[in-house]
Amino acid sequence: MEIPALDVRDQVALVTGAARGIGRSLAVGLAHYGADVAVADLPGSMAEAEEVAAEVRSLGRRSVAVPVDVRDLGRIDGMVAQTVAALGRIDILVNNAGVQVAKPALEVTEADWDAVLDVDLKGVFFCSQRVGRVMKEQGRGSIVSIASQNGVIGYYNRAAYCSAKAGVVNLTRVLALEWAPYGIRVNAVGPTFVRTALGEQTLSNPEFRRDILSRIPLGRVAEPEEIIGAVVFLASPAASMVTGQTLLVDGGWTAQ
Ligand SMILES: NC(=O)c1ccc[n+]([C@@H]2O[C@H](COP(=O)([O-])OP(=O)(O)OC[C@H]3O[C@@H](n4cnc5c(N)ncnc54)[C@H](O)[C@@H]3O)[C@@H](O)[C@H]2O)c1
Repeated sequence: MEIPALDVRDQVALVTGAARGIGRSLAVGLAHYGADVAVADLPGSMAEAEEVAAEVRSLGRRSVAVPVDVRDLGRIDGMVAQTVAALGRIDILVNNAGVQVAKPALEVTEADWDAVLDVDLKGVFFCSQRVGRVMKEQGRGSIVSIASQNGVIGYYNRAAYCSAKAGVVNLTRVLALEWAPYGIRVNAVGPTFVRTALGEQTLSNPEFRRDILSRIPLGRVAEPEEIIGAVVFLASPAASMVTGQTLLVDGGWTAQ
C-alpha cells in the first residue's frame, strides 16, 4: 500500500499577500513542509516579501519575492511569468491577499464595496484563472483560497467582506467542477478571527473582542500559524480526492 504524502515536498507554491500576516505564515509553513515558495505581495511591500523569501531559503527551499496587485490583470500575468521563470512551474496557488472594510451596511460607499470585492473576489478569480492555465498545461495543480468563516455565516458590519468571501466559497465549487478534468483541485480554507494586522483592526476594541470570544467555543482567536495545517493538507497528495470544499478553521464558531 502506498500512502499519499501529507506534505508538499518538492512542489512549487505561489502565495499572494505573503509579506505579512496569514500569508507570511503560509509561505514559511509550506516551505517547512517541503515546498519552494514564490512570495507575492504589493510592489510597496517588497522589502517585507524579501524577508519572507529569505526565511524560506533559510529552511533550505528556493524562494523568490514577486510584486503583484491582484486587482490588475497585467500584474497577475507578470507574477505568474516571474514565478515560472524563477521556480520552473506552479503546483500550488494560495489566494491569500485580502482586505476588509468594517462599516454598517447603511454607510458602505461604492468605493468601499469595490475596494473589497476587487481584491477579495475578483483578485481570487483572475489569479486562479491565470495560474489555472499554467496548471492545465502541467496536467496537475492545487489551488487553495483563504476565504473566511464569514463566507458561510453573516457578521455585523461586513456586508462587502461577507459577500466577497461567500463568493469565494461558491467560486471554489465552480472551478473545482470545471478544472477536475485537468487534474486541478480547488479548495478553500475559512478561518475565524486571526491575530494579524487585519484582525487587530477590530480585535483591539474590548467590546468587540468580548463578543467574538463568546462565539468561539475554543475560547480564543486563531494564531496565523494555526492556518498552515489546513492549507498544507488541502494542497498535499493526502487530499487527492478533496475538491470544491471549504475547510473551516473556526474554533467551533459554525458548529453552533
Ligand atoms: N485576520 C483575520 O481575522 C482573518 C480571518 C479570516 C480570513 N482572513 C483572510 O486571510 C487573508 C489574509 O489576511 P491577514 O489577516 O493576514 O491580512 P493582512 O492585512 O495582515 O495581510 C494581507 C496581505 O495582503 C496584501 N494585499 C492587500 N491587497 C493586495 C493586493 N491588491 N494585491 C496583492 N496583495 C495585497 C497586503 O499587502 C498584506 O501583505 C485575507 O484574505 C483575509 O480576508 C483573515
